[in-house]
Amino acid sequence: MQTLKPITVGPLTIDAPVILAPMTGVTDLPFRKIVKRYGAGLTVSEMIASQAMIRETRQSLQKAAWDPTEEPVSLQLAGCTPREMAEAAKLNEQRGAAIIDINMGCPVKKVVNGDAGSALMRDLKLAGEIIDSTVKAVKVPVTLKMRMGWCHDSLNAPDLARIAEDLGVKMITVHGRTRNQMYKGSADWRFVRRVKEATSLPVIVNGDICSREDAREALAQSGADGVMIGRGAYGRPWLLGQVMADLSGNGDKPEPSMDEQLAVIIEQYDAMQSLYGRQTGVNLARKHIGWYTKGLTGSAEFRNKVNQLDDPDAVLAMLGEFYSPWLSRAAA
Ligand SMILES: Cc1cc2nc3c(=O)[nH]c(=O)nc-3n(C[C@H](O)[C@H](O)[C@H](O)COP(=O)(O)O)c2cc1C
Repeated sequence: MQTLKPITVGPLTIDAPVILAPMTGVTDLPFRKIVKRYGAGLTVSEMIASQAMIRETRQSLQKAAWDPTEEPVSLQLAGCTPREMAEAAKLNEQRGAAIIDINMGCPVKKVVNGDAGSALMRDLKLAGEIIDSTVKAVKVPVTLKMRMGWCHDSLNAPDLARIAEDLGVKMITVHGRTRNQMYKGSADWRFVRRVKEATSLPVIVNGDICSREDAREALAQSGADGVMIGRGAYGRPWLLGQVMADLSGNGDKPEPSMDEQLAVIIEQYDAMQSLYGRQTGVNLARKHIGWYTKGLTGSAEFRNKVNQLDDPDAVLAMLGEFYSPWLSRAAA
């Protein structure tokens, strides 16, 4: 069974549109690199605030960091003034972004109160101005990520998609929730069909896709051209590769062995220390360790202990010890 077809995003062709969702605090360079290696049509950076990008703050530069093995990479921007978005887009183009994604889906108060993210779905005039100036500022394709609308009385994603297409956007992703839902309830994949019918652009369905079965169902219900996966990849950077193989008719990709899983955690852990430095690296890696080990016998106790450690070497030693009963050399 072959469900996925290649899509074109401006000059780019994405053979298997299974896309890693942008997630602030999660989809940094170390995580994305691993996801990409296991298979993903496209990876998207964490949201970068346009103002911070222009000031080239340390954090924004960390978020815009990418690796050639990721190519093509999409760098996501959030902002509420057309001029700043244009300037930040240019900077990211210079940093090698293959795609600039505009965030009109983030529901977080800090972002929304600045009239960025999903707040732009309440002001389609400003949304249009932001899209227009971003598209005009760069040669690379610009894509747009949105929700269904601000609330259920204002499901205007199809209108925004039409505006975006007219202004030169090349791909639309829809998270099947409203802003007011935040992350509650379940994603409405069927709604995404309305966006698909409103534009001739590639449309990507997003929200609550955590397995191969979910991906198939989301595509069937939405008629979308591809899927975007976020939280389902927590502690499972191989999930997108599995979904991709399934939807491309390449059969089942099994879960990696526990030896491989441990090697992946260590790789990500080391890369986080290099990117963020020792203390921040240790802190930021905690949640990933929690996700990787979730469901394993004794994991709650292990997490309690490991979260108290500040020394990266001690964390790695404890990880090795925790995984040892499942490693193949233990059975040998
Ligand atoms: C921790 C976290 C951070 C997120 N950060 C971003 C972001 O930076 N930009 C964005 O467009 N969406 C962001 N999102 C939304 C996701 O990209 C995605 O739309 C949402 O989680 C639904 O997909 P999922 O159910 O597959 O996770 C974030 C979501 C989470 C859970």
